[in-house]
Amino acid sequence: MLNLAILISGKGSNMNAILSAVQEGEIKNVKPSVVISNNPSALGLRSASEIFRLPTKVVLCNKQTKGWDYDKQIVSVLCQHGVTPESGLVCLAGFMRIISPEFVRRYNMRIMNIHPALLPSFPGLRAQKQAIEYGVKVTGCTVHFVDEGVDSGPIILQKTVCVLDSDTEETLSSKILKEEHKLYPRSVKLFAEDKIQVKGRKVFIHN
Ligand code: GAR
Repeated sequence: MLNLAILISGKGSNMNAILSAVQEGEIKNVKPSVVISNNPSALGLRSASEIFRLPTKVVLCNKQTKGWDYDKQIVSVLCQHGVTPESGLVCLAGFMRIISPEFVRRYNMRIMNIHPALLPSFPGLRAQKQAIEYGVKVTGCTVHFVDEGVDSGPIILQKTVCVLDSDTEETLSSKILKEEHKLYPRSVKLFAEDKIQVKGRKVFIHN
């Protein structure tokens, strides 16, 4: 059984998509164990506890707790809920913090992130706005393992979305989000089924 933690900062719609897929039996052998947020008013915290009946934890950050000092507290919550570097999976789902190298190394290739662009294009904040301003005709979303850089880890799955002349940041974001809700559960399922192999930068999916 794979113990799963989801880290959120906001709405948590990707979290909902993953948890629904587990609840509906599309993803097997995964035990959602805890939802953690840096933001006490993250909407997703409510659905995690009220709909999915999961333990939730807010880890506040301040000037004293940056980088590994902050992440240490996250790791302690993960371990309390059995999400260990040996047997756990951590999914960042709209978690708007950069993870420290110490955390990344400890959970090597066991932290996933979803990003609303076709990486390596448009990393960082407001990827959809960046795509519109650049004038690309195609963008999309990426699920990747987290490494020590920003949105730079090995790519697990990607899905394209067309950019129309009429698209705004909002319309494009919602088209991409719809695809994110399919891509992230698929990635977690592949991981849980042990079908993912990482060799350097490359991720191989085995059937
Ligand atoms: C999603 O679009 C996700 O790709 C993005 O934040 C949104 C979270 O939505 N993440 C990033 O931009 C990370 N760089 P959600 O809270 O409804 O899942």
